[in-house]
Amino acid sequence: TKHLLGIKGLTADDIQLIFETADNFKDVINRPIKKVPSLRDITIANVFFENSTRTKLSFELAEKRLSADVINFSSSNSSVKKGETLVDTVNNILSMKVDMVVMRHSSPGAPHFLSKNISANIVNAGDGTHEHPTQALLDAFSIREKLGDVAGKKVAIIGDILHSRVALSNIFCLQKLGAEVMVCGPVTLLPKYISSLGVKVEYDVKKALEWCDVANILRIQLERQQIKYFPSLREYSLYYGVDKKMLDQLDKEIVIMHPGPINRGVELNSDVADSEHSIILNQVENGVAIRMAVLYLLAGVK
Ligand code: CP
Repeated sequence: TKHLLGIKGLTADDIQLIFETADNFKDVINRPIKKVPSLRDITIANVFFENSTRTKLSFELAEKRLSADVINFSSSNSSVKKGETLVDTVNNILSMKVDMVVMRHSSPGAPHFLSKNISANIVNAGDGTHEHPTQALLDAFSIREKLGDVAGKKVAIIGDILHSRVALSNIFCLQKLGAEVMVCGPVTLLPKYISSLGVKVEYDVKKALEWCDVANILRIQLERQQIKYFPSLREYSLYYGVDKKMLDQLDKEIVIMHPGPINRGVELNSDVADSEHSIILNQVENGVAIRMAVLYLLAGVK
C-alpha cells in the first residue's frame, strides 16, 4: 500500500514486517553514527493541523535519521487562517517537489479524504477521534520488547475510550497480533459500539488492573468534548486514577504505558508514571525507530 492511513487496513504480516524493520533501525540509532542514507533525495512534509509534541518531533527525527529533506507546516501560523482549503494547502506544498506527507488533523477521515485528492504517499499522524496508527505500532512494539511477544498478552486500555484515536488503533493492532484486549472507563466515556470490536468491557479499574499484564492508561480528552461529560477531572481521578497503592495490592507485576501527554494526578499518579513499572519513555524512544520503518517501507511504493 502507498499510504498508512490506519491499522485497520494492515495484516499481521504487515505489522511484523514493520517491527522487523524497526528492530534494524533501532540498532542503527543506538550507534555513534545514527544516520543512514536510505531516504536521500526524498522530501517529506510534516503537516500538522493539531498540536503535537511527541509525534511531530519523532517523525522529524525519523526523517532526518533516514537522510530525507524535511519541511514542517503548522496550521496555526499558516494561510489556512486566511481560508485556504486542506487540498489547496497540501497541493501547494506538493508542487515544491515533496514526495511524502505526514499529517495530523482534528477531523476523523481527513487523511483518507486527502489520499483521494493528492498523489503523494500519506502517513496518518492522528485524525481526530479515529486512528493514530504509528502510536499503536510503537505501543505494540514496546510490549513485544518488554514481554517478548504480544500474542497471548492481556492488555487493558483504561480511560477516555470514546474520544481516543490511540484506543481504536491499539485495539486493531493488538488483536491482529493475538493479544486479548479489555477497555475500562466510565460508561459515559466508552463508545456504544465498543463490544462489537470483540474487546472485554470493564467499569472497575481495580478489576481491570487485576486482569491485565499491561495497562495502557489514556487521558481525558477535554479538547474533543462537545458537551461536558460526566465525570469531571476530579471525579475521574477519584474513581479511575491509577496510583502506586493500587499496584501494590496486585499479586503480580504489570507494565504501565501511556501515550502522553500525561495529566499527572488525574489518570496517573507520578508514583506510577515515574516507577519501574512504567515504560512510558521507552514508548517515546521506540517511536523514532517505528516511524523510520514506516517511512522507509512506504517510500518505495509509488
Ligand atoms: N502520543 C501523542 O500523539 O503525543 P503528541 O500529541 O504530543 O504527539
